[in-house]
Amino acid sequence: MANKQIQEALEWRYAVKKFDPTKKISEKDLNTLLESLKLAPSSYGIQPWKFLVVENPAVRDELKPVSWNQSQVTDASHQIVLLYRDTIDEAFVQKYIERIAEVRGVDLPSLQGFKDMMINNIVKAPEEKIRVWSQRQAYIAMGFLLETAALLKIDATPMEGFSASDYDRILKLDGTGWKSIATVTLGYRHTEDSFQNLKKVRFADDALIEYVK
Ligand SMILES: Cc1cc2nc3c(=O)[nH]c(=O)nc-3n(C[C@H](O)[C@H](O)[C@H](O)COP(=O)(O)O)c2cc1C
Repeated sequence: MANKQIQEALEWRYAVKKFDPTKKISEKDLNTLLESLKLAPSSYGIQPWKFLVVENPAVRDELKPVSWNQSQVTDASHQIVLLYRDTIDEAFVQKYIERIAEVRGVDLPSLQGFKDMMINNIVKAPEEKIRVWSQRQAYIAMGFLLETAALLKIDATPMEGFSASDYDRILKLDGTGWKSIATVTLGYRHTEDSFQNLKKVRFADDALIEYVK
C-alpha cells in the first residue's frame, strides 16, 4: 500500500460519536478486523488478552447506560470489548508453551528455558505489575484494530468511557480471570456526525518527534 494511501486513511479516521445504525460491516471485513487483533504483537508473544464480539443487541442495550450513555455502543455495527488477563499463572504459561510446540512442531523440553524465563518474569512478578503490563498489551491490539479499520475505510471509536466493573458483571467475566479494559465500536459514520468535520488536533511535529543524533 502506498504511503499516501496510509496517510489518507489515518487522516480520514476519527473517533466517531454518531454511527449510522443501518450500515453493517461485512463478514469478510469483520474477519480481517479480528485477524488484526490476533496478529498483534505482545510481550513474549503470550497474548494475555481476549476479544469479545458483543453480538447480542440486548447485551449492548445493557452496556450503554454503563458506558456514559454513549450512543456508539448501541448504534455501531459491531462492538468489541478488549479483555486482559488479570493474573498470569503457570497454567497459562504452560498453555502458551504447548501452543508453540503444536504450531512450530517442536518438543516441549526445547521450550523449557523460555518457559522458566516467563515464570520468573511474569508468574513470580508482583500482581499489580502484571496487571498493568497485561493491560498495556491489550492496547497494542487495540491500535492494530484501529489502523486496520481505517485502512478498510471502516469507522471505529476507541472507548474507555465505561464502568469496567459493570462490563465485567454484564459480560459474566467475574471469576474468569479476564477483565475488560477498553472497547472499540465499529461501523460507519452517520452523515450527521459533526465530529467528522473537525480538524485533527495534534501537537506540532517538533513537540512530538525528536531525533537523537
Ligand atoms: C483509550 C481511548 C479511550 C477513548 N475513549 C473514548 C470514549 O469513551 N468516547 C469517545 O467518544 N471517544 C473516546 N476516545 C476518542 C478520543 O477522544 C479521540 O481519539 C481523540 O480525541 C483524538 O481524536 P481522533 O481519534 O478523532 O483523531 C478514546 C480514545 C482512546 C485512545
